[in-house]
Amino acid sequence: MVTVRTTAMTMYKNDIEDLIRQRKSVRSYDGNKVSMEQKKELLEFAKDLNNETYEFEIIDIDLAEGVKIGTYGYIKNAKTYLIAIADESLGSDNEMAIRFGYDFEKLVLKATDMGGLGTCWMGMSYKENDITRLVGTDSSKRIAMVSPLGVQKGKHLMERITRSVISADKRKKFGDLFFLIKTGKVLLMMEVLVIMPMYLK
Ligand SMILES: Cc1cc2nc3c(=O)[nH]c(=O)nc-3n(C[C@H](O)[C@H](O)[C@H](O)COP(=O)(O)O)c2cc1C
Repeated sequence: MVTVRTTAMTMYKNDIEDLIRQRKSVRSYDGNKVSMEQKKELLEFAKDLNNETYEFEIIDIDLAEGVKIGTYGYIKNAKTYLIAIADESLGSDNEMAIRFGYDFEKLVLKATDMGGLGTCWMGMSYKENDITRLVGTDSSKRIAMVSPLGVQKGKHLMERITRSVISADKRKKFGDLFFLIKTGKVLLMMEVLVIMPMYLK
């Protein structure tokens, strides 16, 4: 049976297409923690994603208290992080991994929806041990993804270089991403938002 989950259209205060266009990875932050209200709102949203294979946590770090997340210099001055903690099985279950990708992006877009909170998907550029220690996960779990959360302030040099090397500011056209393979027909945004979640049980 195919279960239709809450569609992206009903999840956000702002228009989903505007959010997708507005969102860009942020690697330089203003050094402030995200407010309790915003953390609560994001975690409530995460709860509605309702998956048993992975869960989300939000943690604050404070250099003044000697706690830091090693981000190899990629992320500057972020004090709050969104952490995805997953069962080991996520890595070997393709369908679940795709669903996880959708859910993490929904959260990232929710952060954008909440007054433009900055985020950056990070699958590699942190020390996993640091995160594991901070969230206190048991050994059967993995850190699946990490994102800083907060207000953007400037762009550090490494960030500008990274964005330039990967051409991050050149966005693909909608029709290059969403089309029917057999006919080449470009889908409408509405079709993408309604049809795609139906494939995700
Ligand atoms: C699964 C995944 C893992 C990523 N891991 C990292 C990472 O560890 N470090 C990093 O700087 N960027 C990482 N990125 C790339 C950025 O999050 C971002 O997608 C990329 O810079 C493109 O910029 P944009 O988000 O503004 O489109 C990752 C992206 C994805 C999808």
